[in-house]
Amino acid sequence: MFTVLVKTNDKTNLLRRTLSKMPPFNYKPKPYTGDSYEVALKKRRAYVHPSVELYYDKPLMIVEGKKQYLFDEKGRRYLDAIAGISVINCGHCHPKIVKATTDQLNTLQHTTTLYLNNMYTNYAEKLLKTLPKKLDTVYFVNSGSEATTLAMNMCRTYTNNWDMISLRGGYHGMGASMGLTANSHYKQPLPQGFGIKHVRSPNPYRGPYLEDDPNMVDKYVNEIHDLIQCGTCGEVAGFIAEPIQGVAGGIPLPKGYLKKAFEVVRKAGGICIADEVQDGFGRTGTMWGFQKDEDGLEPDIITMAKGIGNGFPLGAVVTTKEIANSFTKRFHFNTFGGNPVAMAVGNAVLDVIEEENLIENARVLGKYLKGKLTKLMDKHDVIGNVRGKGLMIGVELVKDRKTKEPGCQITLDILENMKELGVLTLIAGVYSNVLRIKPPLCITKEDADFIVDVFDEAIQML
Ligand SMILES: Cc1ncc(COP(=O)(O)O)c(C=O)c1O
Repeated sequence: MFTVLVKTNDKTNLLRRTLSKMPPFNYKPKPYTGDSYEVALKKRRAYVHPSVELYYDKPLMIVEGKKQYLFDEKGRRYLDAIAGISVINCGHCHPKIVKATTDQLNTLQHTTTLYLNNMYTNYAEKLLKTLPKKLDTVYFVNSGSEATTLAMNMCRTYTNNWDMISLRGGYHGMGASMGLTANSHYKQPLPQGFGIKHVRSPNPYRGPYLEDDPNMVDKYVNEIHDLIQCGTCGEVAGFIAEPIQGVAGGIPLPKGYLKKAFEVVRKAGGICIADEVQDGFGRTGTMWGFQKDEDGLEPDIITMAKGIGNGFPLGAVVTTKEIANSFTKRFHFNTFGGNPVAMAVGNAVLDVIEEENLIENARVLGKYLKGKLTKLMDKHDVIGNVRGKGLMIGVELVKDRKTKEPGCQITLDILENMKELGVLTLIAGVYSNVLRIKPPLCITKEDADFIVDVFDEAIQML
């Protein structure tokens, strides 16, 4: 046991709280010998673009990671309940992934996709085996934004239509995909999104149609139909959605919604994209987020990034040969997409997910964690909603359960308190009142208990 000083909400007193003991971890971080905290902070403020924001009142410095834990410059250990924003599914510095990376670095660091390389083709084959048969072609990129942009462009070249539809609250990246992103926090005041329409997200907790309405799904699907009828020429290029919305606050699209939405979009000539950048690679307790309803849903395009490389820049767009062929009228080039080191990493990540049964761990512990967090609703009125699938959980905080007034400051304070107590989380949601819990998929039951205990204590400190 050790104690920390935590500020109370009125900022006048300091409370001495006893910290729940973190699960033991038999690992000693290397002695840190780099710049001091003060020097690093000074350099960051002097040299780095200000839009690269720092989190927390007193920014955190992280110098090492191992499995589900991170270490600061003083060697203090934190439970990483955000996994580099849904990236580190296999845990930090996994030895198999590190070895695959360094072996490949020592063999061939980079060449060009203009030459044949077996790392590329073998990984393509292995990745496609995890997907429905019709999705038989892959294009590798370096990030989620590149993946969603390429997917959108393929929808347009294949259909010869222009209009794209995405869900409000959704996040699909920056750059050309900023238009698909539908949250003002992430939209620069620039012309963007030409030809992109946003339809209401089927949010069963906060939307106009709620989960107690038996026709909720149809009403939300009807909004897509209505948009196509009234806001387009009647034909569209495509539709993109995250099966479980990440940045929007871990919102699983209601069961049956995507299947019906895809039918409406396909009837209007459109292509359906599942954005699996956050959901994919086991996070939601299935390999892919679109499999959550077990209804045989088959997207036409899948975009991937984040967990695909467990921290290495890698992304992919998977689709059918027919759709991919529409993009061959001109050369489409990406210097680093398919880089041999990225391919080696991707290959090792798939092995680790399988060998360590990470999908099952995400399913079982996700259910357990969500259950315990939901139980805390009996104790704390500020918890408005607990939702998610697998280890992709959102906890929405409110000032008042009846009015659902977003508890933005409450969320910020809980975030700060949890950090003090040793758990790192993240804020999400259109109103910035959702705490995102997305740890590496290798967490243990003791870690899940610790997250819940710390969350409970963090609320008591408000
Ligand atoms: C669902 C989703 N799509 C796309 C992106 C963009 O990915 P990247 O930041 O790698 O460009 C993100 C990033 O958070 C995301 O969450």
